[in-house]
Amino acid sequence: MKALDSMERVSLGIFPTPIQRLDRISALLHTNVYIKRDDLTGLGLGGNKVRKLEFLLADAKRQGATVVFTTGGAQSNHAMLTAAAAGKLGMRAILILKKRGVTECLGNQLLEKLMGTEVLFMDTDDYADIYAEMDRIGESLGVPFYKIPCGGSNALGTLGYVDCVREIAGQGIRFDHIVCAEGSGGTMAGLALGAKLFLPGTRVHGMMVDKDAFEEITPRLMREAAALLGVEIEIENDDFALRDQCGPGYAIPSEAGDAAVRLMAEQEGLFLDPVYTGKAFAGLVAMAKEGVFRENENVLFVHTGGAGGLFAVART
Ligand SMILES: Cc1ncc(COP(=O)(O)O)c(C=O)c1O
Repeated sequence: MKALDSMERVSLGIFPTPIQRLDRISALLHTNVYIKRDDLTGLGLGGNKVRKLEFLLADAKRQGATVVFTTGGAQSNHAMLTAAAAGKLGMRAILILKKRGVTECLGNQLLEKLMGTEVLFMDTDDYADIYAEMDRIGESLGVPFYKIPCGGSNALGTLGYVDCVREIAGQGIRFDHIVCAEGSGGTMAGLALGAKLFLPGTRVHGMMVDKDAFEEITPRLMREAAALLGVEIEIENDDFALRDQCGPGYAIPSEAGDAAVRLMAEQEGLFLDPVYTGKAFAGLVAMAKEGVFRENENVLFVHTGGAGGLFAVART
C-alpha cells in the first residue's frame, strides 16, 4: 500500500517475524493455534513497541528532536524499548514513569539501569501530570524534544500494527481470528484496521488487560490511523471484538493469566508475561473452551513480548 510505504520510518527491528504453529496447544484446544513471534522483533528483548517506534522516532528525527520523553508504569516494556531505540539512534531518552508497580531494580528497571537511562518516578495516577512535567523539563533543557504517549498509542504508532497485518497477509496462511493483548490500544487498533485493509474476513480480538474505555479508544485510533493513511473507510463496532481479561487489575497477575504462562512454557517452551501476553492467551484459551473457534479454523496469537516484566512481576 503506497500510503503506508510513504510514511517515514527508521529501521529498528528484524522483520518479518516468524509465524509458528503451536502443535501441542492446538491439540489441547481442538483448533489450529499459531503464534506471531513479535517477541522476536530484534531490539532489546523484543516486543510490539519496536514496530510503533519505527514510525514514532522517525517523526521525532524529522522534527529535529534530540531528546525523547515517554511514560508508563514502573515496569513499562514500552518505556524500556523507547530508551533502547533512542540509544541506538543517538538520542537521549528521559522516562517519567508512574510510581506504580515494581520500582526496584528488577525486570525493565534493571535493563534501564544497564542502558544508563534517565528514569524519574511521579506519584500520580494522571498522565496529564506527567505530560506537563515532560514539557517543563523539556523546555528547561533548551533543545528540541519529542513526547511519545503512554504505550506509543497514537495514530502514528498504530501504523506499526497496520503494517504487521500486511506482513501477516504475505506469510501464506489465512487466519480466521487474530488475538492480542490490549493495554493502551495501538496494537489492537492497528491490527483491526490492518485486517480491514489486508485481511478482510479475519476477526481481531483485543484482550483488555487494563480498565480503560477500549470500546471508544479502539475505533478512535483506527479512524485516526486511517486518516493518516488517507484511507476513506467506515469503522463500525463490528470491526473489532473486545474481551475483559484484566482480572484483579492492571499489572496485577491473574490466576488465569498465570496458568496460561505455565501452559505455554510447559507445552511449547515459550515464555509469556503476567501483565499482557499471559492474560491475553488466557482469553484465547477461554474462547476456545467456549466454542468461539471451530475445529478447522486458524487462530493467530500475537506474542507482543513482555519478557522484562516477567522477571519483575511473575509469581510461581
Ligand atoms: C508486552 C506487551 N504486550 C502488549 C501490550 C499492549 O499493547 P498496546 O499498548 O498497544 O495496547 C504492551 C504494552 O502496553 C506490552 O508491553
